Amino acid sequence: MSTKKTGYYCQECGHFTPRWLGRCTGCGGWNTYVEEYVAPARNRQVIEHQVTPRPLIEVTSLDCERRSTGMAEFNRVLGGGVVPGSLILLGGDPGIGKSTLLLQVAGTISSDRQRVLYVSGEESPHQIKLRADRLGISNSDLYIYPQTNLEAVEEQIAKINPMLVVVDSIQTMYFSDIASAPGSVSQVRGCTARLMQLAKKQSVSIFVVGHVTKEGAIAGPRVMEHMVDVVLYFEGERHQTFRILRGVKNRFGSINEIGIFEMSNCGLQEVANPSAFFLMDHVYRNVAGTVVVPTLEGTRPLLVEIQALVCPTSFGTPRRMTAGVDHNRVALITAVLEKRLGLMLGNCDAYVNVVGGVRIDEPAADLGIAMALASSFRERPLDVHMAVIGELGLTGEIRPVTALDKRIREATQLGFERCIVPRQKGLPETGELELKQAATLADAFDLAFLGK
Ligand code: TYD
Ligand code: MG
Repeated sequence: MSTKKTGYYCQECGHFTPRWLGRCTGCGGWNTYVEEYVAPARNRQVIEHQVTPRPLIEVTSLDCERRSTGMAEFNRVLGGGVVPGSLILLGGDPGIGKSTLLLQVAGTISSDRQRVLYVSGEESPHQIKLRADRLGISNSDLYIYPQTNLEAVEEQIAKINPMLVVVDSIQTMYFSDIASAPGSVSQVRGCTARLMQLAKKQSVSIFVVGHVTKEGAIAGPRVMEHMVDVVLYFEGERHQTFRILRGVKNRFGSINEIGIFEMSNCGLQEVANPSAFFLMDHVYRNVAGTVVVPTLEGTRPLLVEIQALVCPTSFGTPRRMTAGVDHNRVALITAVLEKRLGLMLGNCDAYVNVVGGVRIDEPAADLGIAMALASSFRERPLDVHMAVIGELGLTGEIRPVTALDKRIREATQLGFERCIVPRQKGLPETGELELKQAATLADAFDLAFLGK
């Protein structure tokens, strides 16, 4: 009889149960338990005595020299650069460009006479070389190591003593003390814990690539996310060239920042002026159902185009479809439009889309969505030189928004001439741009369609 003990781990949330269950009691997922070996508890007799508690004031602050990744967009998402000894998880769909991004970072850092170890469990050195040629990377300080065994990786890190390590990907790595297959929850958890120890002990920064499950979470997600210092997601539409790097957790900075990149023939390029990028051909069109909204992504304003299409329902129940904005928010705005403006949207299908695959989840875009819907419903184009800002209340009032000055400055820079804004105190100086204040939805409607 085997002496190894087995149990069942939920592959979504890492929940453990000694017997198989159909439904995870942790996350509620169906059929997610997989049998894995349970690692025997380590002998905890050996306690590390070198470290003792110290008063906080005696702890020297490592006013740490963050290391630049060579890309301002990436640095900003990280909070200024890579902190030595940090473990950073980069998640994203397959083929989105995770390996490309990290190879570029590895290339930049190694060109600065710093050693970088790129561990690949997925691609052969020749494949990586091909990509590196395309990206124009050839440095003697960049080491490529095709390996899936974590002990071997640890050995090489001790030998090479790199400044940065890239592990691509965590799901291919295994640690021989753990009997489960690579990619299982125990392996992922075990390997991440080892890498964390290594990062802290040797003060080496480690980037770990993590694959995303079909539900959109990093496989073995919760177990991994709270172990690492920084969690980043790399997102984008596969058929479009731009990509967004988003922070989900960051022990060294804000998680509200995003970085915008464009995938080109020679790797990922930073997009320095994203608003202009997203609005590329906006002013050449004079059609109903589109409006520009200055939103805020972290500390940075971003102008996006919201499109709506309203048409009569051909089936019994009207359809409401959204991409890039919350479905329920659109349902609410539709109801407010019906009630407060008398637009009979009840027997119309409504589709709302944010151009370029951007996701907006702040209420300051409400008025923009309402204007786009109204414009499409009435088949009346809005002024292409006008932007719209405001949160919508259920009574049809328009509420103040945060950081109005930043939004307006961005709109001014991009050549907008008018902007509908909420009635709020401390309206900024605008110069060229004309501000039109609206207290209610009906006011905004008059301003937008009747030019009052
Ligand atoms: P990759 O980094 O391999 O994705 P991931 O590691 O997230 O799975 O990116 C692969 C895609 O990027 C592939 O479809 C080709 C494209 N690509 C370019 O368009 N230009 C380039 O210079 C490179 C290197 C890749
Ligand atoms: Mg890859």
